Amino acid sequence: MEALLRDKALLYVTGKGGVGRTTVAATLGLAAAAQGRRTIVCEVAEQDRVSRAFARHGVKGDEEIELARDLWAITIDPEAALHEWLSKQLGGGPAGRLVGHSHAFHHFVAAAPGAKELITIAKVWELAQLERWDRHNRTYDLVIVDAPASGHGTAMLTAPRTFGEIARVGPIRRQATKVADMLSDPARTGYVAVALPEEMPVNETIELEARLEDAVGLGLDAIVVNGVWPERFSAADVRRLREASNANGVVRAALTGHARAKAQRAQIRRLRGKTDAAVSTLPFLFEADVGLPGYERLASELEL
Ligand SMILES: Nc1ncnc2c1ncn2[C@@H]1O[C@H](COP(=O)(O)OP(=O)(O)O)[C@@H](O)[C@H]1O
Ligand SMILES: [Mg+2]
Repeated sequence: MEALLRDKALLYVTGKGGVGRTTVAATLGLAAAAQGRRTIVCEVAEQDRVSRAFARHGVKGDEEIELARDLWAITIDPEAALHEWLSKQLGGGPAGRLVGHSHAFHHFVAAAPGAKELITIAKVWELAQLERWDRHNRTYDLVIVDAPASGHGTAMLTAPRTFGEIARVGPIRRQATKVADMLSDPARTGYVAVALPEEMPVNETIELEARLEDAVGLGLDAIVVNGVWPERFSAADVRRLREASNANGVVRAALTGHARAKAQRAQIRRLRGKTDAAVSTLPFLFEADVGLPGYERLASELEL
């Protein structure tokens, strides 16, 4: 994980809905920033949880906001991204203004399936460039994508290649090809899956690895198993608890928790056996709202 945070320019955090992608993206962002890498976490579509968790409000869709030292966040707005790209292509002249102010976005999105995904992932690519579309924007060492849930997440990864093939010439093809090249370049891009330590989520993560191979020709670099329960009792403790003549609700709850932690360990072992990716774990936090203090705790627990 340390090498990933140090060496890559782009980390794509993917996984099923609700497994903790946003939490892990924020945690990785804090860990990378702590290593001194200027990092931006980008959220896609209508999720603004990281920024909310970092207690910033009233932020415009596509603004890059500073959350902590060396850590920034953006919610990618595909419409704003398309306008930005067009003004770079067409310059600030009348053509640029005309297209920018017409319904360019709606036309573009209606033109072909995957257009919205393309412009979104192109914006991700742009954030990782040394020269930004807007030359005045700051540059980053690392871009972490809090990707949409698996299906959508892989659609975003295949869009550039599909478009590169459809648009046979011109700026869209050139742009799409640059993005596709980055997404399939293991020197620049790393893929992280978030999984829960349960049977179905583990199976889904294995399937995700295969789909990623199809989409970009790369496997997972790391899998973060999130929400792992603590193993509090030794075998001897458990025997004593089971034998307790006065077993009450608290004892039973402790035994249930123990059984759960044990079952999770078995799933983590199974996952490790089925993947070449580095598997690390993050503990379940029992606090009601994870938020920034939670992300910081998780970042310190990350096996680096
Ligand atoms: N390690 C954890 N311990 C406790 N709660 C967690 C943990 N990771 C995530 N959560 C909580 O689970 C919910 C889903 O997590 P989130 O990161 O938003 O998932 P996703 O982005 O995959 O939908 C959130 O309420 C989050 O605070
Ligand atoms: Mg999320």
